[in-house]
Amino acid sequence: MVEEEISKSPFEEDKEVPKEPKLSRKSRWLKALAYIMVVVFVITFLCTFYFLNKEYGDEIPELLFDASAEFDISGMYDADGTLHPYPVIETDRDEFRILQITDLHLFYGGWPGDNKTFALIKDMITFTEPDLVVFTGDIAFTIFNSRMAERIVVLMKEFDIPYTVTLGNHDCWGKGTKHKIANTYHNDKQCVFPYGPTNIALEPGIMSVGNFPIFIKNPDGDIKYSIICMDTGEKYQGDYAYISEKQKEWYTWLMDGIEQNIPALPSIAFMHITMFEVSLVPAGNIAGMVNERFSRQGKNIGMADEMLKYNVKGVFWGHDHTNDYIADYVNPEISGNILKLVGTRSVGYNGYGRSGVDKGGRLIRLDLTSGEFIDLENSTVTSTMVYA
Ligand SMILES: [Fe+2]
Repeated sequence: MVEEEISKSPFEEDKEVPKEPKLSRKSRWLKALAYIMVVVFVITFLCTFYFLNKEYGDEIPELLFDASAEFDISGMYDADGTLHPYPVIETDRDEFRILQITDLHLFYGGWPGDNKTFALIKDMITFTEPDLVVFTGDIAFTIFNSRMAERIVVLMKEFDIPYTVTLGNHDCWGKGTKHKIANTYHNDKQCVFPYGPTNIALEPGIMSVGNFPIFIKNPDGDIKYSIICMDTGEKYQGDYAYISEKQKEWYTWLMDGIEQNIPALPSIAFMHITMFEVSLVPAGNIAGMVNERFSRQGKNIGMADEMLKYNVKGVFWGHDHTNDYIADYVNPEISGNILKLVGTRSVGYNGYGRSGVDKGGRLIRLDLTSGEFIDLENSTVTSTMVYA
């Protein structure tokens, strides 16, 4: 009783202290939900504003593929070092090393997953000492796609190594249009990225960019290998896009032209989306890991059969993050060749993965004397291997 009197102020004696009405549990949830909705609305508004302010980039110069034109191999040799339709990389070794890196799925460049991905890429380049780095698409995963392309340019400045890119389905979904992304890589002298022909897409109005060959020259100055990069597009008619008939026609024209000048020149190819034909290969002819269904191109247009007509050793892609395999594609009706269809695991920590599947890439070693792969079966480079 005494304690109660001491704790009370004399002024409060006759005053009713207004009590805040206690919110029911339901009301508290509604209040929290309202706050969340406001925050989501503001973020959506800002993102939409940012996204709508698209970066269109510069117009890509028209280069029309004409199947009746003759392939001019002299276009391969550039005297002044400028990038031309048929770039050449010189090496002073009899072995040419290519590091394939795929599906980075960068958010905005500073996310913890982005930093881990950048660190792994740097480690892999240092570890493998490649002559060329090939990014096979899905570099970006958010609306900041043009900024992520610029980050790759900055990243590669740390290494005195040429690199090239095949665009992935995610690379063109964002603030930057496909023009803008292509401009970024094309304008970087370290990046071997000619635009290629502008009239070989699935249909007019769709853009296919970055279809081009790269030639490898040995210490004697002889062309010993060709690397063909192809754009597999994005989505088309409710499925993943696919290599167009026009692209295939261009490929045939190019390979025929090379064949006439340098018979049986060994070749490999890079692209982003898994080729349809891999789903036709019997499981017994596939070595490595197939952890997920092939998210392959939407249609089989006979591209693998076309490749079997030439001395093409293999085709490399990414797209299916947790697959890492080498499939032997054969068709005795076309030729006795074996075409290696190679799916490479993703490097990006933001993209989906699978426990037990380390992030990584693939080192492809080309023997410039024999034209064969050197130990392709053991070419996977993983995060544990690099960090071990
Ligand atoms: Fe993809």
